[in-house]
Amino acid sequence: MKILSINGSRRKAGNTESLIQSILTPFQRGGAQTESIFLGDFTIGACTGCEGCRNSWVCVIKDDFAQIVKKLDEADGIVFASPTYWYSVTSDMKRFIDRCYSLIQFPVTRKEWISKYQGSKKACVTAAVCEQFEESAMGNTLSLLTDFSKDIGLDVVETVKGLGFFEAGSIKADHRLMEKAETAGQHLFDHIKR
Ligand SMILES: Cc1cc2nc3c(=O)[nH]c(=O)nc-3n(C[C@H](O)[C@H](O)[C@H](O)COP(=O)(O)O)c2cc1C
Repeated sequence: MKILSINGSRRKAGNTESLIQSILTPFQRGGAQTESIFLGDFTIGACTGCEGCRNSWVCVIKDDFAQIVKKLDEADGIVFASPTYWYSVTSDMKRFIDRCYSLIQFPVTRKEWISKYQGSKKACVTAAVCEQFEESAMGNTLSLLTDFSKDIGLDVVETVKGLGFFEAGSIKADHRLMEKAETAGQHLFDHIKR
């Protein structure tokens, strides 16, 4: 079993990374192959809307995006996680998501699409962290990650939300949330295994 985590934060040992680590714990325990990447370590340019991917599932822009698609192709499970930056995902995550336009096709009308991973049984957990305690401060961070994951054909098994964390790694002191994240990881593990 292969599990890939994709982190939209550039803060190493930050709150998003801590949340991801808890989600991945059951996979490490269960002997799965895990890989964690920070999108900021890759060069991913903005989608230009050129439609060059229209009939190919392949983005024509030559940068590191294809490397990440290869990792997605090979993964059984994925964790998409981002801190909130101004009520949404980080710009690294948003550029990545925009480029995943190449993973959907509109064969008949613009109202309906097919996705590269539909029917693939790939599953995911989405997670988001923000500083403020009010739900509204997170904006669309978690719903965007979740809707996007569904749109590219992944089964979203669970979503995890961390409200009220600012200092890097401070989220680790919230043992209940860390346990919740681990349980979400366990549910993803069980979902993939069955
Ligand atoms: C540019 C920027 C914008 C942010 N915008 C928000 C926001 O809109 N709402 C919020 O609650 N926190 C916001 N934050 C705080 C981060 O979401 C918070 O510190 C989070 O824990 C960072 O996660 P990380 O440690 O994984 O990078 C912002 C932080 C930065 C740097």
